[in-house]
Amino acid sequence: MKALVTGGAGFIGSHLVDHLVAEGLDVVVVDNLSMGDLHNIKHQDEVTVYVEDVRNEKFMQQLLQEEQPDYIYFLAAVASVADSIERPAETHSVNQTAVFNMLEYIRKTALPIKQFLFTSSAAVYGNLPELPKKEDSRVDPLSPYAIDKYATERFVLAYGELYDLPTVCVRFFNVYGPGQNPSSPYSGVLSILTDCLKNNKAFTLYGDGSQTRDFVYVEDVIQALWLITKSDTSHEVFNIANGNEASLTSIIETYETVTGQKLQVKMAPGRDGEVKRSVANIGKLVKLGYTTKWSLEAGLSKYWEGA
Ligand code: UD1
Repeated sequence: MKALVTGGAGFIGSHLVDHLVAEGLDVVVVDNLSMGDLHNIKHQDEVTVYVEDVRNEKFMQQLLQEEQPDYIYFLAAVASVADSIERPAETHSVNQTAVFNMLEYIRKTALPIKQFLFTSSAAVYGNLPELPKKEDSRVDPLSPYAIDKYATERFVLAYGELYDLPTVCVRFFNVYGPGQNPSSPYSGVLSILTDCLKNNKAFTLYGDGSQTRDFVYVEDVIQALWLITKSDTSHEVFNIANGNEASLTSIIETYETVTGQKLQVKMAPGRDGEVKRSVANIGKLVKLGYTTKWSLEAGLSKYWEGA
């Protein structure tokens, strides 16, 4: 069995690649290294890596023909709400057009795949009051990022139904853990917090800290992705989260306790397009056998140890 992982040198992608290799799959990675790093991949010598942009349509078509993957995990993305507001056209070309082009090619050439898994986001739910979010809760995408993720989900599911392709979507909540790149102001907040605590830098807190998120440790995310692959599920959407809501202020406090460090905080106005509260209902994933193995404290301790 062969798997193609786009964004496979990135934070979540590289953990997935390591897992797939350990499960005995042949793994092919495409990554333009915009946020990823080949060193993130532990089993680099066992993986075929192409340093390319998923927007290179010709290249991607040739790759699919030559490699004929059974499983496709589409993780390549510009993974930031704030970045999508700064660069809507560019983020759209990655977060939607590249995925659409691949689906279209698979359809036209009737490429025989076992599963096409698209990674969407909790951002699609927006600020509607129902909590926790279920996969069939109403959506209200507020940013170019969230709109692209939701619209692409719809393409992925419609292609699945209309052309009988085995497609599935996952909605990541806030994933953290080793390998998350802290170098951009648009990086995931826990990678930035880790960098600030480690290097004694001031942390900029956007808003009053009461915004909530559902943080899930990357190993639990990989567990979920693998369960979805093994279940041969098609035409479904799954939340991938921990199922617990925590405010940014409480996360900072927990991290300070775990590390024994004190964070310097600079306050700044809240960011545009942001979701105020986010927490998942993970019942659908639990039915596949998912159990969260990492509490926030345990995940943060482990992350800090390796930082
Ligand atoms: C994150 C992911 C996104 C995913 C979504 C799912 C990243 C970069 N983004 O978006 O890919 O689809 O979860 O829910 O991982 N914050 C600060 N200071 C900082 C950075 C962030 O206060 O220096 C705040 C933000 O304003 C936000 C919260 O921390 O309120 C989380 O921000 P961030 O980690 O960027 O994640 P999301 O926007 O939730």
